[in-house]
Amino acid sequence: MNMFVGVFGAGTMGRGIAQIFATYGHSVILVDIDEKYLKSGLEGIGNSLKKLREKGTIKEEPEEIMRRIKTSLNRDDVKDCDLIVEAIVEKFEMKAELFGYLDSIVKKEAIFASNTSSISITRLASQTKRQERFIGMHFFNPVPLMKLVEVVRGYSTSDDTVKFIVDLSSSLGKIPVVVNDYPGFVANRILMPLINEAIFSLMEGVATKEDIDKVAKYGLNHPMGPLELADLIGLDVCLDIMNVLYQETGDPKYRPAPLLKKMVSAGKLGRKTGEGFYKYV
Ligand code: 3HC
Repeated sequence: MNMFVGVFGAGTMGRGIAQIFATYGHSVILVDIDEKYLKSGLEGIGNSLKKLREKGTIKEEPEEIMRRIKTSLNRDDVKDCDLIVEAIVEKFEMKAELFGYLDSIVKKEAIFASNTSSISITRLASQTKRQERFIGMHFFNPVPLMKLVEVVRGYSTSDDTVKFIVDLSSSLGKIPVVVNDYPGFVANRILMPLINEAIFSLMEGVATKEDIDKVAKYGLNHPMGPLELADLIGLDVCLDIMNVLYQETGDPKYRPAPLLKKMVSAGKLGRKTGEGFYKYV
């Protein structure tokens, strides 16, 4: 069944999510508050599709897939959507405001999903009157290549909604895994302390950044070292998630590394700003 999907946020994750839905035949409206992100989002999708087409991963021409993606600066344009996937900045107040508003305009039977990497799904759902049709749909970066969708069940999410999102994720070529709503869910509860510890190791002079990454790549068989991966994810995102883990659990083992905080303050956010632990041209 082809659906009409509203994707909020044209950043790294939102554009990847829009691309996946369009690739699998769904009509997508990609919404952002800034025209510049919509433009770079479409460019990014076009480049990614071109690469996948060259490799034979997708059968359809990129232009055909792109035709299924519309963009908008007006959030009222999603009112007839069957599914909303939110991928805006990782700030509770902004997501809460958005979902509260969308709840009043989007048709009642539509499902709301958040791609949040660590904010409580139950808390977000409570901003709406459709808590049973509210769920976490957590994709991984780069979305077109990464198989996992962490399907996060909030306190009141219904079995029907979980089944619908699990089946939908499988139909998008992904591997869904259902987890419960606890800080960081499973993926980031494991990954972020690893990255944070790598940053502490760098800060304490245990090894150089290159060597820390080499240890993970060649000793643990990770595809990327933790510092390279932090640059890919965005250091601001890593810090936001560590802060959620720390604040929600009160456990000092999750305290963000001071070097991480300092780099975020300095605007060295990783690939997206041209510099993080490494420099990007
Ligand atoms: N679309 C299409 N193609 C893409 C792409 C995209 N978005 N991104 C990368 N590629 C292509 C590359 O251009 C490259 O093409 P080439 O072979 O023609 O040069 C190809 O994919 C393979 O990439 P690379 O050769 O650079 O490197 P790898 O073989 O290592 O694969 C990777 C890249 C899949 C990113 C791999 O390094 C990897 O799995 N890294 C770990 C990623 C990860 O852990 N992601 C999760 C982050 S956590 C998260 O997202 C959760 C959030 O809440 C924080």
